[in-house]
Amino acid sequence: MSFTADRLVLFGATGDLAQRMLLPSLCALDHDGLLAPDLKIVGTARSDLDEGGFRNFAREALETYLPANRRGGMADFLNRLTYQPLDATTLEGYNDLAARVGEPARGLAIFLSTAPSLFEPTIRGLQHAGLDGPNVRMCLEKPLGTDLATSCEINDAVAAAFPEERIFRIDHYLGKETVQNLLALRFANILFEPLWNAAHIEHVQITVAETVGLEGRVAFYDDAGALRDMVQNHMLQLLALVAMEPPGSFDATAVRDEKVKVLRSLRRVVEGETVTGQYRAGAIQGEAVPGYDEELGRVSDTETFVAIKAHVDNWRWKGVPFYLRTGKRMPERVTEIVVQFRPIPHSIFEGKGAKVQANKLVIGIQPEENITLSLMAKVPGLDREGIRLRSVPLNIAMPHAFSGAVRRIAYERLLLDLLEGDQTLFVRRDEVEAQWEWIDAIRAGWAAQGLQPRTYMSGSWGPSAAIALAERDGVTWHE
Ligand code: BG6
Repeated sequence: MSFTADRLVLFGATGDLAQRMLLPSLCALDHDGLLAPDLKIVGTARSDLDEGGFRNFAREALETYLPANRRGGMADFLNRLTYQPLDATTLEGYNDLAARVGEPARGLAIFLSTAPSLFEPTIRGLQHAGLDGPNVRMCLEKPLGTDLATSCEINDAVAAAFPEERIFRIDHYLGKETVQNLLALRFANILFEPLWNAAHIEHVQITVAETVGLEGRVAFYDDAGALRDMVQNHMLQLLALVAMEPPGSFDATAVRDEKVKVLRSLRRVVEGETVTGQYRAGAIQGEAVPGYDEELGRVSDTETFVAIKAHVDNWRWKGVPFYLRTGKRMPERVTEIVVQFRPIPHSIFEGKGAKVQANKLVIGIQPEENITLSLMAKVPGLDREGIRLRSVPLNIAMPHAFSGAVRRIAYERLLLDLLEGDQTLFVRRDEVEAQWEWIDAIRAGWAAQGLQPRTYMSGSWGPSAAIALAERDGVTWHE
């Protein structure tokens, strides 16, 4: 059902995500005139605040996390906010919440940014108070479970009240402009698609490196680890966008149908195709940082780094390894995709002593969007001693190409799509389940092998075994 919501309820409204991302994103959208004039936002959480208290909380969040040039009209934005304290685990409070929300003119969007253990009771409470009608959309923030079974429990609980067309599962990587640009690069250019297959691509690398450590998320992170925190969602979404077939159209069903086919084609990872690590004390950009166990205050076998050699078993990708790696406390924050093309079939320059390097496409996603295609070129000169060739970059720096464009927080796009009802950039149930199925098998393998994370120094690119994982195949990680 298509409508632009005129009510938004934020569960977990005093939490970290609301403070750092959701409230700033909403205010920024408001500043640009993108929110419906009659949109009212109801925050709800356990904290015993009144409307004024919540508005003060929001003001502080905006002043801390939103650049001053995007805060114009903040007073009007704050006037949209109201608040209802709620213990999400008991039914009583939900009628008060419904009264606070009032009767939407068009529809209501509900954003659950709470612990997943609260999802089920919250859904029951919403049903109890009649906040589950046909004009209600439900948006869920990660983590959606800790494995396939718990993810199915959550999905079942939500499905009991909301049909899939009204469920919006967030993977904030899909809200990133640079990630969406992968689709434009692949499907708005004729150049790449004919070469985008096993006949011309030797391997693909996907790196999501972070410099941060635990960031105070002790309990959550130690239970999750890098595989579930980053690979299950963000990295598999990146892989799916790189590997998917061209969808018939740019709409939610067509795009998600193609992504799920890739996720279902992922081959089970076997022993020797993964490396895990945990950071020790070291230095990042010259600054000393403690080890994971020191930050945690105890010894743990949770991985803060993982490297995987993955395979997509279908016609297009047969025999093309996808090397994935992600880690905390890496030397720099960088998310990038490297597409390594195969060598040319025959070099006419070989007799002249010149080496031809295979082409490589590097899609930089963070911190800056940068697309670089390495091409071979002749080194200028008279070639008295034979022709010389060198690889030179054809480089597009997106911030320069679009210098006037506003750089938005991923959640701006996702919140707007939620309010307007476009599911293209949200994850469908079958995608999440295919992701978990693959991840669960990896974890089961680790458990069977008794795999323990290797240590690596903060500020390094992970354990040396991760380098060996690629080098065994003659592949060097791109740095
Ligand atoms: C989150 C993870 O989903 O993504 C965090 O839980 C991680 O551990 C974050 O730091 C990375 O997001 P971004 O947008 O900074 O790359």
